[in-house]
Amino acid sequence: MTFTVLTLFPEMFSALLLGGIIKRAVESKCIAIETVDIRDFATNRHRTVDDRPYGGGCGMVMKPEPLARAIRHAKQKHPEARTVLLTPQGRLFDQRVARRVAQYTGLVLICGRYEGVDERVSLLVDEELSIGDYVLTGGEIAAMVVIDVVSRLIPGVLGNVRSADEESFSSGLLEYPQYTRPRSFEGAQVPDILLSGNHLAIKQWRRRVSLARTLAKRPDLLFRESLTPEDIEFLKKIHRDIEAIIERHMQAP
Ligand code: ADE
Repeated sequence: MTFTVLTLFPEMFSALLLGGIIKRAVESKCIAIETVDIRDFATNRHRTVDDRPYGGGCGMVMKPEPLARAIRHAKQKHPEARTVLLTPQGRLFDQRVARRVAQYTGLVLICGRYEGVDERVSLLVDEELSIGDYVLTGGEIAAMVVIDVVSRLIPGVLGNVRSADEESFSSGLLEYPQYTRPRSFEGAQVPDILLSGNHLAIKQWRRRVSLARTLAKRPDLLFRESLTPEDIEFLKKIHRDIEAIIERHMQAP
């Protein structure tokens, strides 16, 4: 996977190479991160990349020509790549979208700055993505989020191939709790089942805790997830237990 980032601040992306999994993934050539300075594609002597908005208003808008030239330059180098504009108006970038875009051999990530980019740039991109319902000062941090999330789905990036599959969201549920030594920490114990050596029982326990956690913290995720008959049976049991508790309290004098 090659990430080609179009930005006015290419130096920000050196942060990804300071340490950790992304640095290692670049070194082992599982991924490549290239930056393109949009200013290099400005059409005038002053290398202007922004201008005042038509119709008035405060702030500056990124001009379409330098961006268009930078996008075409990147596409010429990586014709198979998907072009993505990072913008708060885009589709929400979640694990599902990450899995889909991880299938491309390249992503061209376009980072806007100032008050926005000229609307006509959206005609040149394959899709628009937002990392959440808030407004960043630019698309760079959003592009880094996309690079981080997508990279760990690329084969070879994570040492343990299974760990990307097993955690929060990859199954559509929140992850089960993890413990390591010591067995007792400030009075809180590791659940006995995890020490039992019974792998089947541990697997079932983890699935149930995932379901219960998701129900408690992010019930919205359960609407999207495909559940097994055992999952449904377990959720029904929780439902019956809650009803019994409510019933009991309603009868209390
Ligand atoms: N640029 C500014 N805010 C953004 C967001 N929430 N997602 C993606 N790009 C952005």
